[in-house]
Amino acid sequence: MIKAPVLPACLDQLPEFPFTRLALLLGGPPTPDCLNMAIGEPQNPAPAIVAEQLAANGHLWNKYPPGNGTPDFRKAVAGWLGRRYGLPAGLIDPDKAILPLAGTREGLYLIAQTVCGQRQGAKPYVLMPNPFYQVYGGAAVMGGGEMVFVPGARSPSDQPDYSALPPEVLERTALAFLCSPANPQGNVADLALLERSIRAARHYGFVLASDECYSEIWDKAPPVGALAACAALGEGLDNVLVFNSLSKRSSVPGLRSGFIAGDERLIAAFTRVRAHGGPTTPMPILATATALWNDEAHVGPTRDLYRAKLDVAERLLKGRFGFARPEGGFFLWLNVGDGEAAAKRLWDEGKIRVLPGAYLATADAAGDNPGQPFIRVALVHDLATTETALTILSQILGG
Ligand SMILES: Cc1ncc(COP(=O)(O)O)c(C=O)c1O
Repeated sequence: MIKAPVLPACLDQLPEFPFTRLALLLGGPPTPDCLNMAIGEPQNPAPAIVAEQLAANGHLWNKYPPGNGTPDFRKAVAGWLGRRYGLPAGLIDPDKAILPLAGTREGLYLIAQTVCGQRQGAKPYVLMPNPFYQVYGGAAVMGGGEMVFVPGARSPSDQPDYSALPPEVLERTALAFLCSPANPQGNVADLALLERSIRAARHYGFVLASDECYSEIWDKAPPVGALAACAALGEGLDNVLVFNSLSKRSSVPGLRSGFIAGDERLIAAFTRVRAHGGPTTPMPILATATALWNDEAHVGPTRDLYRAKLDVAERLLKGRFGFARPEGGFFLWLNVGDGEAAAKRLWDEGKIRVLPGAYLATADAAGDNPGQPFIRVALVHDLATTETALTILSQILGG
């Protein structure tokens, strides 16, 4: 008799990935002729730096990359963070407070494995917004934690304020994910909210993981970040980690390159955990990433293109579906009444693929899923394609 392996019970709680659910809803994966606005995968051509650096560093493919990257990479990231957030000299020690990541997703997942120790003899809580990037949920569940969904402070489109949670919840918390600019809503956490969240993390002894991978795609003003809030508080980087990536900033989701920066004790613990199996970043990619973080010239035009797409969206959709220009990121978050029904219609009638908001959120205790009325539309194609797609979307959904 063949005995089946016993899989861990937590697998049953693992959120189903949104694109798996979408393929079920729409009867299959994306087709080559469709307008795929479901996935946040920038379709802009990669900056010329990428091909140049990969070619120039081709002799390094035969090296195992060090887990902590190269001194040049760490210096480039520290320099970028310092310029971008106006950080005081000395706040970040590049060699102790920065690590390369093979994309933020991998880091966001692995951090839960690193910090989810038991609290008060029980499973620790992992706080996350709702709606949320589903990896936060997978990270919590597989890291041995319990997901705690925290709605927006003032509305479902808002950032959660963890500092306002009851002390008994915060005492059992090991990890809290923030996402600013938020996926999917595009709203930004202000400095005061970040400061309150950091103070709560330090008071109750949990880790604040600030996912800032959309930080460079902004409309009116550059979003503040958790490291800037640390600088404003003036007490170092304790209990804070920020995650960022080249996927959106430099339109290279396929490069799989990001970084984690913050509390040196947590960086050291993360390094030990990752040494056993997390992905490291190959040397030619580290060299490419170094050049990309050192270059700002390619980022402005990308941002301008997203702004132009928001202009088109505003012209076509303003006054309908609760349209609001996102402060950051490249998603429209449209209230269409029933997100699944709208996604199905757009697919059946227009070959347009969008994500039902319900797939990015979890129902609350009363059974209400805050994403249910919404669709998420990724503005990741060129301007003309985006205009065509939004015109068709607008015609099909009426409103
Ligand atoms: C909120 C959020 N965090 C993290 C990621 C992961 O991005 P990457 O691993 O490419 O850096 C994504 C990707 O879409 C995202 O939307």
